[in-house]
Amino acid sequence: MANESTPLIQTVRVGPPRRRYRHHTLRRFCNIACVSLLLCGFASFALHSLYIWPSGQEHRHRHPHHPHHGHPDHGHKHLSHEDLQAILLDTPSSEKAEEWSRYYTSGAHLAGKNYSQAEWTKDRWEEWGVKSSIVAYDVYINYPIDHSVSLLEKSSDAKSWNVAFKASLTEDVLEEDPTTAAKDKIPTFHGYSASGNVTGSFVYVNYGTYRDFADLVEAGIDLEGKIAIARYGGIFRGLKVKRAQELGMIGVLIYSDPGDDGEITEENGYAAYPEGPARNPSSVQRGSVQFLSSRPGDPTTPGYPSKPGVPRAPADETTPSIPSIPISYADALPLLKALNGHGPRASDLNKWWNRKLGLGYKGVDYNIGPSPEDVVINLYNEQDYVIAPQWDVIGIINGTIPNEVIIVGNHRDAWIVGGASDPNSGSSVLNEAVRSIGKALEAGWKPLRTIVFASWDGEEYGLIGSTEWVEEYLPWITDANVAYVNVDGGASGPQFSAAAAPLLNQVLRDATHLVPSPNQTVAGQTVGDVWDGKISTMGSGSDFTAFQDYAGIPSLDMGFGGNGSGPVYHYHSNYDSFHWMSEYADPGFVYHRTMAQVLAVLVGELADRVVIPFGATEYADALDSYLDKVEAKLQPADADLATDDEIFAVRGSVSSHEVIGSQDAFEESLKKIRHSISEFRDKAVKLDERAAWAKKKLEEGLPWWNIIGKARLGLTIIRVNHQYKYIERQFVFEGGLDNRSWFKHVVFAPGLWTGYAGAVYPGLVESIDAKNYSNGLKWAGIIKHAVDKATKSIQ
Ligand SMILES: *[C@@H]1O[C@H](CO)[C@@H](O)[C@H](O)[C@H]1NC(C)=O
Ligand SMILES: *[C@@H]1O[C@H](CO)[C@@H](O)[C@H](O)[C@H]1NC(C)=O
Ligand SMILES: *[C@@H]1O[C@H](CO)[C@@H](O)[C@H](O)[C@H]1NC(C)=O
Ligand SMILES: *[C@@H]1O[C@H](CO)[C@@H](O)[C@H](O)[C@H]1NC(C)=O
Ligand SMILES: *[C@@H]1O[C@H](CO)[C@@H](O)[C@H](O)[C@H]1NC(C)=O
Ligand SMILES: *[C@@H]1O[C@H](CO)[C@@H](O)[C@H](O)[C@H]1NC(C)=O
Ligand SMILES: *[C@@H]1O[C@H](CO)[C@@H](O)[C@H](O)[C@H]1NC(C)=O
Repeated sequence: MANESTPLIQTVRVGPPRRRYRHHTLRRFCNIACVSLLLCGFASFALHSLYIWPSGQEHRHRHPHHPHHGHPDHGHKHLSHEDLQAILLDTPSSEKAEEWSRYYTSGAHLAGKNYSQAEWTKDRWEEWGVKSSIVAYDVYINYPIDHSVSLLEKSSDAKSWNVAFKASLTEDVLEEDPTTAAKDKIPTFHGYSASGNVTGSFVYVNYGTYRDFADLVEAGIDLEGKIAIARYGGIFRGLKVKRAQELGMIGVLIYSDPGDDGEITEENGYAAYPEGPARNPSSVQRGSVQFLSSRPGDPTTPGYPSKPGVPRAPADETTPSIPSIPISYADALPLLKALNGHGPRASDLNKWWNRKLGLGYKGVDYNIGPSPEDVVINLYNEQDYVIAPQWDVIGIINGTIPNEVIIVGNHRDAWIVGGASDPNSGSSVLNEAVRSIGKALEAGWKPLRTIVFASWDGEEYGLIGSTEWVEEYLPWITDANVAYVNVDGGASGPQFSAAAAPLLNQVLRDATHLVPSPNQTVAGQTVGDVWDGKISTMGSGSDFTAFQDYAGIPSLDMGFGGNGSGPVYHYHSNYDSFHWMSEYADPGFVYHRTMAQVLAVLVGELADRVVIPFGATEYADALDSYLDKVEAKLQPADADLATDDEIFAVRGSVSSHEVIGSQDAFEESLKKIRHSISEFRDKAVKLDERAAWAKKKLEEGLPWWNIIGKARLGLTIIRVNHQYKYIERQFVFEGGLDNRSWFKHVVFAPGLWTGYAGAVYPGLVESIDAKNYSNGLKWAGIIKHAVDKATKSIQ
C-alpha cells in the first residue's frame, strides 16, 4: 500500500474557485471542520491516500503536467484511467489466446486429474507479474471405470435374452481432428452418477422436466422399476435424474436429440462435423448429475471447506442413487425405435411433447412406451468414488484499499481432452486479461482495489473449486468482496451474452461499449453496439453461484457464444476441440481477443474507478419487475409461451392441486413488498446521485485550499462505496431457502427444478407452485424485511 509521505494537496488539481460555497457557508464548514478536525483529517487523508493519491487517475489525464508526472521521488509513473484502458484494449492478442487454447486442450484435464495445468497457469500468471498460489481441497468425487448399455430381447423360445443392440458409448475418431484420437481420452459418463447394474423396460420421458414426468403419471404410464430415456435440454441434467429417482425409476439414459440443434441439422441438408456445421451423430454430452439446485460443491461437506480430515456427511442429499449414462443420438436411435408402437405417441400427450422431434426422419415414432417386458435395457455403470484433491490457482494484485476486492474467475477443468470452448476459451481469455493487467502494472498502474484472479478446478462436477474456496474465505469475502466476474465458455461464436446482478448492469454495458466489435456493419461499432443488451438474471451452472447465491456478492457471467444459426456446439463432447474451435467456432481467435478486452476493461473499471461503478436504482427497478413476474404467475391464464426459457421455467416447476392458506392474504403481502421496494428506490436514486456528484467533483477537481470540500468529498466517497458494497449482502437470509438452506439469497437462485435458469424471489415462486400461500406469506415477510434492510443500509 502506497503511503509515501507525499503532500496530499499536491494531488488535487487546481481548479476554478468553487462557486457553490459562499463565504459564510465555507466559514460554517470551517467551524465544523475545526471541531471535527480528526474526522476531516481522516476523510481527507483517506480520500487522498486511498482513492486519489496512488493513481490519481481522475485528474491526471486532464492534467498531463500534474506535479506527480516525472516526480523524481517516484520510481514509476502513474497511469491515467484512459492510459489504463488503452493498455487493456491493446494488449490482448488472438495469437496468444490461440497459444493458450492449444496448451489447455492438448491433454486431459478432468477435475483433480491435471496438476501440471494448475502449475502452468500459476507460472504464467507469475511471469506476468501476479503473485499466485495453488489452493488445494480434498473432495469426494467419481471417476469412470466401466459402462455398457444393451438392448435385450427375449429369444423366440422365451428361454434366453439376445443382445439386439449394444451401444458404442464412444465418440468417433475423426482423422481431421487429432483430439478425438487422443490416448488419454475421457470416457462418456456423468459426474456423481451412481454405480449400478440395472435391467428393465424403458420409457421415453421427453426432456425429463418436472411437468414431463407429471404428464406421464397423469397418462397412466407406469414408471416404477423402469429405465428413463430423456433428451438433453431445458433443465439441468441432474434434475432429470432426480425426478426419475423420486418416481421409482431405476436408471436414466440422456441423449442429444438433433431436433434441439435448430436449423443446422443433417435433416436440413447440413453436413455433420467435421465435414460441416451439424452435430456429429456420435457426439455425447458428458456432465454432472449432481442435484445442483439443492446445493453445489463437495456433496459431503455442506457449508464448510473440504480441507483434509474434515468430517463428511453422506453424499445422497445432492447426488443420485440410480445410475445414469449420457449417450449419442446414434446410440439412442435403436433404443427409441424399439419403442415404436408401444404406448402413446409423444405427440398425443400434449404440445410440449410434440416439439423438435429431430429423429422422426430416421424412423423414430417417439412412442413413450414402456417397452414390452421382453424388450429391456441393461444399463451398467461403474464409478470409482474417491477423495481426491482439486487445485484452484489464485493470483492476487494488492490494491491500495485493503478491504475492497474484485474477484475474477474461470474454471480450468473439462470433461474432455479438448474443452476448447468450455472452459478453456474462458481460460485463454482470462490469461490474456491477466497478461494485460500485468502490462498495466508494469506501466506503473497501482489498482485502487485488490484484484484476485481464480482458475477454478472441479467446476464441472458441481462448482467445487469455487464453492469450497468461498466457504473457506466467507468472512473475508463478506467483508471485502465488491464484485465477482465470471467467464466460463468465453468465445465459441459471435454472439455476446451476459447474466448479471443488476448493480453491475451499467458497468457491464459501459465496458462493452469500449471494445470494438469484430463484426462491424458500420465502422466503429463496439461490442455493446451490436449486442441486444439483454442481461439475464443469475441462475446457476457456473462458478458465480457461491458468490452470488451464498455470499451475496454482486456477480456477473459473460461470454461469446453461438447465435443459433452457426455451427452446432458439441457441448461437453470430444468435438469441443481445438480443431473445431479454430475451424468453426472462432477462426483466427478474434472473439477470444475481444472477450479478453471486455474482461480486462471491465476489471479496470471495477478496480480503478474511485467511486464504485454500481447502479442501485437499476437494482430497485429490477426488484420491482421481478415482482411483476411473481404476480403474473398468480394469473391462471395458460399464456402462450414464446421462448424456450419461458417454456422450461413452467415445465420445470412443481404443479400442485391442493391449496394451502389464503391467496388473498398472500397477494396483500406482495403489495407490502412493492411498497418497500419503492422506498428502497427513493434511497437508491439518492445514493446514485451522491455517487454521480462525487464523480463529477473528482473530475472537476477542488482548489488546493478547499480542505473542507475535499473532506466532504472524501467522506461522501467513503460512504457511497461502503453502501454500494454492502447492498447485495442485505438480501442474504441466513436461514436459507426452503429445503435447500445453502442458498441464502432471497432474490436470486437457480430454479428448483430447472437448475440453470435463474428464479427470482425463489421463496415466493416455489410457494405459488406448491400453492402453499401460508409459506408464501412467510417468504413475503422475509423478502420485505430484506428490502427494508437494504433501504436502511443506504440511507
Ligand atoms: C495435463 O495437460 C497437459 C497439457 O494440457 C498435458 O500435456 C498433460 O499430459 C496432462 N497431464 C495429465 C496427467 O493428464
Ligand atoms: C449385470 O447384472 C447381470 C444380471 O442381472 C449380469 O448377468 C451381468 O453380468 C452384470 N453385468 C456386469 C458388467 O457386471
Ligand atoms: C499483499 O498484501 C498482503 C496482506 O497485506 C501481503 O501479505 C502480501 O505479501 C501482499 N502481496 C504482494 C504481492 O505485495
Ligand atoms: C454481423 O452482424 C450482422 C448485422 O448485425 C449480422 O447479420 C451477421 O449475422 C453478424 N455476423 C456474425 C458472424 O455474427
Ligand atoms: C451466426 O453466426 C455465423 C457464424 O458463426 C454467421 O455465419 C451467421 O451469419 C450468423 N447468423 C446470424 C443470423 O447472425
Ligand atoms: C420440503 O421437502 C419436503 C420433503 O421433500 C416436502 O414435503 C415439502 O413440501 C418441501 N417444502 C417446501 C417448502 O418446498
Ligand atoms: C406450507 O407452508 C407452511 C408454512 O411454511 C408449512 O408449515 C407447511 O408444512 C407447508 N405445507 C406443505 C404441504 O408443504
